[in-house]
Amino acid sequence: MISKGIILAGGVGTRMSPLTKAVNKQLLPIYDKPLIFYPLSILMLSKIRDILIIVNKGQVNQYKKLFQDGTNLGIKISYQEQNKPRGLPEAFILGEKFIGKKSVAMILGDNFFYGQGLSKNLKKCTNLISGAKVLLHKVPNPELFGVAKVNKNNKILKIIEKPKKFVSNLAVTGLYFFDNKVVKYSKKLKPSKRGEIEITDLLNIYKKKGKLSADYIGRGGAWLDTGSIEDYFKTLLFVHAVENRQGVKIACLEEIALYNKWIKKSHVQKQIKFYGNCSYSKYLKKLLV
Ligand code: G1P
Repeated sequence: MISKGIILAGGVGTRMSPLTKAVNKQLLPIYDKPLIFYPLSILMLSKIRDILIIVNKGQVNQYKKLFQDGTNLGIKISYQEQNKPRGLPEAFILGEKFIGKKSVAMILGDNFFYGQGLSKNLKKCTNLISGAKVLLHKVPNPELFGVAKVNKNNKILKIIEKPKKFVSNLAVTGLYFFDNKVVKYSKKLKPSKRGEIEITDLLNIYKKKGKLSADYIGRGGAWLDTGSIEDYFKTLLFVHAVENRQGVKIACLEEIALYNKWIKKSHVQKQIKFYGNCSYSKYLKKLLV
């Protein structure tokens, strides 16, 4: 069972400038809560309680203001600064001490997942004993992502980063599950042409050893990468539409923690006091009756 998770929330968010000039992307609002609530909710739905958030240099305090050490959410949050983004696998080098001898999940701070059956799927992924697992999702614009070529039996043949020529429409989403070898393999990676170590190279190491497997987010599921203004805005509209139509909140961390029996109602009361008089608190109040 994977019990540790990393959220990679660094980066400069160039494509989102000027929004990201003064505020870190993961702290920008997706409708009624900061973007980081969404990937954090995914780790919590995966029943992962020991979480490391990697942030840009000088930004730990902003995140601490939001989550403190995670006690009121029934989780343990630690923080680690990154001097300069050097590629996604750097998370496993910076997180070496946090990971220790355990397996680990990693989610990109700007990835959004939603859909029926997702929690079940996630729990299956955390059962990983050895190797690596990725979640694939069909997209209309695969050239913008890491893409997986699979055979008839859904076996991954190859992973290619942002392919210029069409390979397949299966994007590798920003949620990964790795055994403990990930630390050793990440340290061996050499920077690509764009000067960063690449997650695709890391996945291909597992692939070559026959240790890479995949799961799918089916048609009932949504995956959005909020990296560009357009996608960011689409995600915001999606959350607004679902929440207002159904009267439920997506990524309400306290609701998940209560459901998981990680916190008591008294913790929720503390959170209501902390957030103050807002619609999120009103929703939390409803959980107490
Ligand atoms: C990164 C990865 C890519 C993956 C994507 C998911 O790309 O390099 O393989 O498909 O995240 O969001 P980036 O968004 O950093 O360009």
